[in-house]
Amino acid sequence: MESDLAGSERQRLQAQNTELATLAGGLAHEIRNPLSTIGMHLELLGEDLAEEESARAGRMLARVRQLQKECHQLEEILNAFLQFARAGEPRLERHSLNDTVRSYVEFIEPAASEQNVQVSPHLDANLPDVRLDEALFRQVLTNLGRNALQAMPDGGTLEFITTQRDGQVILEVIDTGHGMDAPTTERMFQAFFSTRSEGSGLGLPTVRRIIEAHNGTISCDSAPGRGTRFTVALPPDNL
Ligand SMILES: Nc1ncnc2c1ncn2[C@@H]1O[C@H](COP(=O)(O)OP(=O)(O)O)[C@@H](O)[C@H]1O
Ligand SMILES: [Mg+2]
Repeated sequence: MESDLAGSERQRLQAQNTELATLAGGLAHEIRNPLSTIGMHLELLGEDLAEEESARAGRMLARVRQLQKECHQLEEILNAFLQFARAGEPRLERHSLNDTVRSYVEFIEPAASEQNVQVSPHLDANLPDVRLDEALFRQVLTNLGRNALQAMPDGGTLEFITTQRDGQVILEVIDTGHGMDAPTTERMFQAFFSTRSEGSGLGLPTVRRIIEAHNGTISCDSAPGRGTRFTVALPPDNL
C-alpha cells in the first residue's frame, strides 16, 4: 500500500517535472530565436562600422562588440538551461561506458594539449556494459572535463578512470587544478552557483541530474591547490 502511494507520488512528480521541462524548453526556444536575430544584426552593424574611420564609428563599434559579448553570454546560458531541462529524461540503452569515455578523450585532447594538460585515460578492460543515455553521458564528461580544464590554466593532468567497485561501475574524473575550498564544494551543485564571472553555474547541477536519472550517485573530493576528483557510481541494477 505504502509503496503504491510512493509510486503514484513519484508518477505525479515525474509528470510535473516533464511539464515544467517542456514549459522551460519552450520559453528558452522563444527567447533563442529573437536573440539570434539580434546577434545577426549586431554582426552586420559591426561590419558597417568597421569600414568607417571616424572616432565616432570607433566608439560605436566598441559598444556593438560589448553587446555581441552579452548576446553570446545569453546564448550560452540559454543552452546550459536547455541542457539542464533535458537532463531528467534519459533514454537508456545498453552501452560501453569505455567507448563513451574514449570518444570524449579523443575530442578533448587537442584543446587540452594547447593548455599543457595531459589527458590520461585508464579504462578497465573487463568493465560490464551499463544502461545509459549516451548523449547525456557525453554531456556529463563535457561538463566535468570543461571544469577541469578551467581549473588548470597553467597545465596539469586530466585523468579518466573506469573501474568496478562493490558491484558498481565507477567513473572517476581527476584533475590537478586549483581545487576548491569547503564553501565552494558545499554550493557547487546549486543551480546558478559559479565562481567564474562568465559561468552559467548549471554545469554541475546538470551533471548531477543526469547521474541521478541513471539511478547513480556522484561525489567529489577536492583540496585547494591540490586538485579535484569527481566519482560517479552506477548501481548494479543498472548493469
Ligand atoms: N574541477 C574543478 N576544479 C575546481 N573548481 C571546480 C571544478 N569543478 C567545478 N568547480 C567549481 O564549481 C563551480 C560550479 O561549477 P559549474 O556548475 O560547472 O558552473 P560554472 O562552470 O558555470 O561555474 C565552478 O564555478 C567552480 O568554482
Ligand atoms: Mg562548468
